Amino acid sequence: MESINVLLIGSGGREHALAWALRNSPSIGKLFITPGNPGTEFCGENVELDIRDHEAVLAFIEANEIGLTVVGPEQPLVDGIVDFLETHGKAAFGPTSGAARLEGSKSFAKEIMQKYNVPTGNFRLFERNEWAAAEAFVEDNETWPMVLKADGLAAGKGVFISKNKAEAKEALEYMQNDPALSAASYRLVIEEYLEGEEVSVFAVCDGDTATILMDAQDHKRIGEGDTGLNTGGMGAYAPTPVLDQDALEDIRQRIVLPMVDAMAAEGIPYKGILYCGLMMTTKGPQVIEFNCRFGDPECQVILPALETDLIEIMMASVYGKLDYIDIKIDTESYYTCVVLASEGYPRKYEKGKAITGIPADSDNLHVFHSGTKKDDDGRLVTNGGRVLNVVSKADTLSDSIHKAYDAVSNISFDGMYYRKDIGAKGLKRF
Ligand code: AMP
Ligand code: GLY
Repeated sequence: MESINVLLIGSGGREHALAWALRNSPSIGKLFITPGNPGTEFCGENVELDIRDHEAVLAFIEANEIGLTVVGPEQPLVDGIVDFLETHGKAAFGPTSGAARLEGSKSFAKEIMQKYNVPTGNFRLFERNEWAAAEAFVEDNETWPMVLKADGLAAGKGVFISKNKAEAKEALEYMQNDPALSAASYRLVIEEYLEGEEVSVFAVCDGDTATILMDAQDHKRIGEGDTGLNTGGMGAYAPTPVLDQDALEDIRQRIVLPMVDAMAAEGIPYKGILYCGLMMTTKGPQVIEFNCRFGDPECQVILPALETDLIEIMMASVYGKLDYIDIKIDTESYYTCVVLASEGYPRKYEKGKAITGIPADSDNLHVFHSGTKKDDDGRLVTNGGRVLNVVSKADTLSDSIHKAYDAVSNISFDGMYYRKDIGAKGLKRF
């Protein structure tokens, strides 16, 4: 492949991992990241662009002869940046806004799954003007827990798992009155509580077919043993002992390909990453949610395992050519990511704390930046809730966990917090 200039959108740990993998691609020409972070500066040039201003993005793409735009986070996808660039003949990796509704609207995802028999929990939808019916449904419900979800992007704050009627009523009231949620929750999804082990499966799609990249487990809660508040994700490991290659193929046949076919049949073909949040129940894998992009921090453990050129994969996704490439993944090693966060996260935290002790990058160890910045004196300081991602590779899960924590022990900043049990739920299964 000829060398190709790439524009990457985003600024988190996921985007540093993407920038790192793009930089390692044999096909990379110039790499621009907007807005990027101090970590992505090692991989390419950070540039300031207002990504909501699609015309400005297009002008940048034309001026810099960008051959591929890669969108990291969900919001620009939901806002239609891929649609806009496609209309102007520019290659952009990720779904269109219509297809990104799989993440943007839980009710849309549920309706598609129901229509095309993709396994998911039973559910009921309530419109904004059907609040009384939702209250009556809660009143009459006899099996607990029950799951209530606000429709729309609610930054992880729109899901309530209610153990009893009182909690469900409280969740309903909260959803109706919270200003941030009431915008999202013009519809309400009430769904069956699924029991089992939660696992995420990442597939790349080209509108017509799909290849599974890898499975991973996130650690969403702030506290050890999966306790406390929900966060963006405090660590991840991959691959998981929950799913072997046969189980992944089964998920591809029962969930991923039927979804790709369903979206094509609906006239909104799905391209880009399909992130399947699954519950492994006694009835088999069931979908909890879909996301339309890589997970953060799951991306940080998947991309280092990728042996095929990432740009080649992304171009095959954009141009409907996945059938023509053989995607190779290192399934012999284990990858662990420990997220280092600011004390107080996911609530209030301080910024501007000096960071020291980041080890040099090697084949087996990477430190991807999330919330960092350079201060006026050029020192690296904290600038967000999730600050750094320490990613290690080893032959066993146990070794990869130890190696990640060894590296963590050298890094410090005031108020550094991290979970000490990343990967422990995987170790239990060996
Ligand atoms: P979501 O925002 O849909 O990913 O939901 C956040 C978390 O809530 C998931 O990662 C699950 O741990 C949990 N959850 C969501 N839906 C269900 C369900 N139907 N049954 C059990 N747990 C669920
Ligand atoms: N780590 C969860 C997510 O990216 O949504």
